[in-house]
Formats: sequence, C-alpha cells, structure tokens
Amino acid sequence: MKNIPHDYYLRFVDAAVYAAVIDFHCKGNFTFHKAFRQCTGLHSLSESQLAQLSGNELALYPDMGLTIDMKISERDREKWLYRNESCEKFSPALLKFEEVEKLVSPLVSRTAETHKRGYPSGGALYPVELFICKLTDDIGEWPAAGHVLHLLPNSRKFEVMQDKSTIENIKSAVLTSEAIGSPSLAIVYVVYLPKNLFKYRYRGYRMALMEVGSIYMLVEVQAKQLGLACRPWSAYTDTMLCKGLGLNPALFLPMCVHLIGKGEQHENV
Ligand SMILES: Cc1cc2nc3c(=O)[nH]c(=O)nc-3n(C[C@H](O)[C@H](O)[C@H](O)COP(=O)(O)O)c2cc1C
Repeated sequence: MKNIPHDYYLRFVDAAVYAAVIDFHCKGNFTFHKAFRQCTGLHSLSESQLAQLSGNELALYPDMGLTIDMKISERDREKWLYRNESCEKFSPALLKFEEVEKLVSPLVSRTAETHKRGYPSGGALYPVELFICKLTDDIGEWPAAGHVLHLLPNSRKFEVMQDKSTIENIKSAVLTSEAIGSPSLAIVYVVYLPKNLFKYRYRGYRMALMEVGSIYMLVEVQAKQLGLACRPWSAYTDTMLCKGLGLNPALFLPMCVHLIGKGEQHENV
C-alpha cells in the first residue's frame, strides 16, 4: 500500500461538500463542561416518558397478527454468537498490554500481502482511525511513554501519539460521569474526513458511520472472548477529546468512544 501524507487527501476534496458535512456533523456536538451544567439540556421528558419510549421494536402492523414465530429457543440462542450487555460500572483492574493487542487483533489485516482488514469499508477507503487511550497506570507493559496509541491495521503496528496529554486530561475528556466507574481503556473511533469525502462525497459520511459500527461490534465480541467488559459511549465533547488526542477537530471527527475494562460483575460471560 502506498504511504500518502494524510493531508494529501485535501487536494481531492470538494470544499462545498466538506463544509456541508462539517456543518451537519457539528449539529450533533454536545458540550460537557461544569460551566454549562446548569444551563444546558437535551429535552424535558420525564423518566416515565423515557421508559415508555426506549427499548421498543417497531412493528409496522401491530394490530393485524401478521407475525411468524422464530423457531429458536432461548437455549439455542445462547449457543450462537452474542455480545455481552454494556457494562454498567467498571472496577479498577490490572490489565496487560498483550490483552489490548488481542482486543484489536480481529481488526488488523490477516496477512502482510493484503490491505484488507477484519471489517469491510466502502470503496476500501478505511476512513476510520482507532486511538487507544490508557485511562489508568494499571496496564502492565504499556509500550510507550505516551498514553495514546494509534492503530495501523495494515502494518499491524501502533503509532505513538506525540501529544503530551496526561491520563487525567484524557479521562476528563472521556469520563463525564462518575457513575460509570473506572474503565481501563478508551478506544476512540475517529473519522478522518478528507479521506472519507473525496470519493463518495456526502455518501461517504454515511459509510464511515457504518464502518465505525462494524469495528466496535468486532471489539465487543472479542472483548467478551477475553473476559473484558465494554460500553460504547457518546457522552463527550468532540473538541475536548481531539485536544486530549492531539488531533485537529476540523479534520478528525470522533464518532464514538468505547470504554473497556473489567465489569463489577461478569454479566453473561
Ligand atoms: C453509539 C452508542 C453510543 C452510546 N453512548 C452511551 C453513553 O454516552 N452513555 C451510556 O451510558 N451508554 C451509551 N451507550 C450504550 C447504550 O445505552 C446501550 O447500548 C443500550 O442501552 C443497550 O444496552 P446494551 O448495550 O446493554 O445491550 C451507547 C451505545 C451506542 C451504540
């Protein structure tokens, strides 16, 4: 695979498409900061309304009896692939770096001869970058002084991010709630927008979101295999997170965070 400087993609991007996608994307930003805690809100729905509106399936003909039962029993269901539920609370735990390597191993290329990875990507553009952030000193044999590693899935290497953020800086950008406890790691799924838009334009944005989903699902399944707990997490502010990672927020869009660690109890394992 050719090694292109990352900003080379900007030569091929339509500025109007880029501006429109960034405009839309920014509408989805949240600001989590104590200065705004008292003056921002999403909605004024009550807990009972939220309970009524969440967790539902969408039946299109609910009153017509047009349904067919599946022949899979609960016991059968347990035999097939499933992920654990999201972790409610992480406890402090010792982890070894080799577990981190195993966690991301389903994502990387299977042989040195292929550019293909463990997940599909529209047009093989692979616009989603993974940043692995250490949230605790309790990860044995972490291989670098920096707390953030960037996965290079083709060469099966980690790039050491050169930003000097402390673990505390990164934690304050990611952990906006104490109730979630102490995850050991955060994987940040970031779309590098120039690489995402030059070919498929607006549709590229849609494809990148799907790529993020397929990556975090592989991580969920592998985490279960390794006895680790996870929770996808969107309670962060993009700009604060980019600052913690040392990334330019006009080019790199953090789409989702994945908290990983040991759960207080091992649910479903
Ligand atoms: C993209 C995404 C973002 C999420 N963000 C948060 C979050 O910010 N805070 C949180 O507590 N849970 C978050 N979740 C977890 C969901 O609440 C959880 O997946 C959902 O309640 C279903 O439960 P389960 O994961 O245990 O099956 C997120 C899930 C996804 C897929």
